[in-house]
Amino acid sequence: MPQSNNAQLPPGKFPQLRVMPMPADANIHGDVFGGWIMAQVDIAGSLPATRRANGRVATIAVNSFLFKHPVFVGDLLSFYADIVKVGNTSITVNVEVYAERNRLQTEIVKVTEATLTYVATDDSRKPRALPPLAPEDQVEALSNLQELGGGWHAV
Ligand SMILES: CC(C)(COP(=O)(O)OP(=O)(O)OC[C@H]1O[C@@H](n2cnc3c(N)ncnc32)[C@H](O)[C@@H]1OP(=O)(O)O)[C@@H](O)C(=O)NCCC(=O)NCCS
Repeated sequence: MPQSNNAQLPPGKFPQLRVMPMPADANIHGDVFGGWIMAQVDIAGSLPATRRANGRVATIAVNSFLFKHPVFVGDLLSFYADIVKVGNTSITVNVEVYAERNRLQTEIVKVTEATLTYVATDDSRKPRALPPLAPEDQVEALSNLQELGGGWHAV
């Protein structure tokens, strides 16, 4: 029996980014280039990292990246990004990408999952210690971590 990939957009969460790939982002078969997806994932992941760092960040590592299903021209992509780890200067973010295909039939496929690490940097592009979290943000950060789980993860 063929396996259905139909997923749901994560309930109660807002995507950091929504974007639709165009023909210039794809090869001659209409499959979107992995490098284009990686660039969008990097942007999406940098948004919560920048907020947590309260300033500029630089991507230091792509820890894992899984292109589980292809992305096609015209898919509506939603990028969800959650901070999963915080160090002295670094912030690690998990990014999940969902494609809404054939949108009139509401087919949703989780296409990509990645984990990236960002480093807070100062004006000289050197690592900078993260500012402390305000108490109300600590509660939100904890509940975000508890919500993570389920789904598949790249290793
Ligand atoms: C980001 C940058 C300023 C960090 O400076 P650095 O001297 O290399 O950093 P450090 O060795 O002090 O490490 C900084 C943090 O990154 C973490 N880190 C280092 N290497 C890592 C790796 N491979 N994976 C995950 N985290 C890593 C360290 O553990 C440290 O985290 P902590 O402070 O929370 O413990 C520097 O590496 C840089 O400018 N890189 C280029 C950034 C860039 O151009 N990115 C875009 C290219 S796509």
